[in-house]
Amino acid sequence: MESKKRMRILSGIQPSGKLHLGNYFGMMQPALELQQQGDAYLFIADYHALTTVSDPAILRKNIRDVALDFLACGLDDRKTVFFRQSDVPEVLELSWLLSIVTPMGLLERCHSYKDKTAKGITASHALFSYPVLMAADILQVQATTVPVGRDQKQHVEVTRDIALKFNSQFGETFAIPDPVIRNEVAVVPGVDGQKMSKSYNNTIEIFGAEKQTKSQIMRIVTDSTPLEESKDPSTCTIFALYKLFTAEGDRSEMEAKYRAGGFGYGSAKKALFEKVWSHFEPFRARRAELENDPAYVESVLQNGAERARIEARKTLKAARRATGLE
Ligand code: ADP
Ligand code: TRP
Repeated sequence: MESKKRMRILSGIQPSGKLHLGNYFGMMQPALELQQQGDAYLFIADYHALTTVSDPAILRKNIRDVALDFLACGLDDRKTVFFRQSDVPEVLELSWLLSIVTPMGLLERCHSYKDKTAKGITASHALFSYPVLMAADILQVQATTVPVGRDQKQHVEVTRDIALKFNSQFGETFAIPDPVIRNEVAVVPGVDGQKMSKSYNNTIEIFGAEKQTKSQIMRIVTDSTPLEESKDPSTCTIFALYKLFTAEGDRSEMEAKYRAGGFGYGSAKKALFEKVWSHFEPFRARRAELENDPAYVESVLQNGAERARIEARKTLKAARRATGLE
């Protein structure tokens, strides 16, 4: 039966702020589901976060929060190797070896650098070369499958290009990974209708306080169709978010309310709040427990780092051999 090679899944998230519904549906949920189907690796991309977070106390807090968020949302450390990127420093050496075969033009085409500098983030060398480090993150464990939101697709393509180039120049060394992007959650909209993102101040956080979550939902921008008139759910941000929480069959009731008229956006927002709040209820309880057990959380990360390092060392050795360093 098992003739196909086992899937090896890897994804990472930067500890650069509070996690939101975009992160949850775009990356966390797919990654957590995939942990049932193969060898899974998930990491907190703290080296990456240094490109945008300059306050050490904030970085430390963000790292801790992301660890709690993932464990609370169902990361099973028996199935998934969960680690902090900087606990596996082999990735930096691998990144250098990869940068040898990375054409400047490949990095110059990356949207993320242009977007971030346009937003005023310092145009550092690290920010520019970040896709090479991301390639090393992926290739060091020989990942085959990378669950991410659509904004990261280009980086996985860059990783593929780098791996192919390295393999052809130095001999077969790396598996070629595929991105996994779920269409229905590829771009989760924020309260202003743009892509939800920490940097756009338009998020609905997954572990915000009740009042805050309510007020984030109340800020969702809608059109000015009067209450009594029929509304089009397919163009409404509230409905787009509501859909994420409901199976296809269960959406028709809400759709019918929109179309019937007499159902205002205020009521739709209330219904969305109920969905958000109840969906994360069990996770909130688990998170509160974990918050009181920092030693456990740290032990999961340490154990994950040890396991990730075994793979990273193997890959690094192969890459060092291939290039002639050994
Ligand atoms: P942000 O834009 O808030 O800074 P990140 O860049 O840290 O988010 O993204 C972390 C992960 O979450 C990535 O895999 C990214 O593709 C996914 N993601 C972020 N925002 C969204 C969104 N609005 N819709 C779908 N996926 C998203
Ligand atoms: N660049 C990703 C982001 O900003 C985070 C990340 C770093 C990542 N390394 C990765 C995601 C490797 C998937 C695989 O969201």
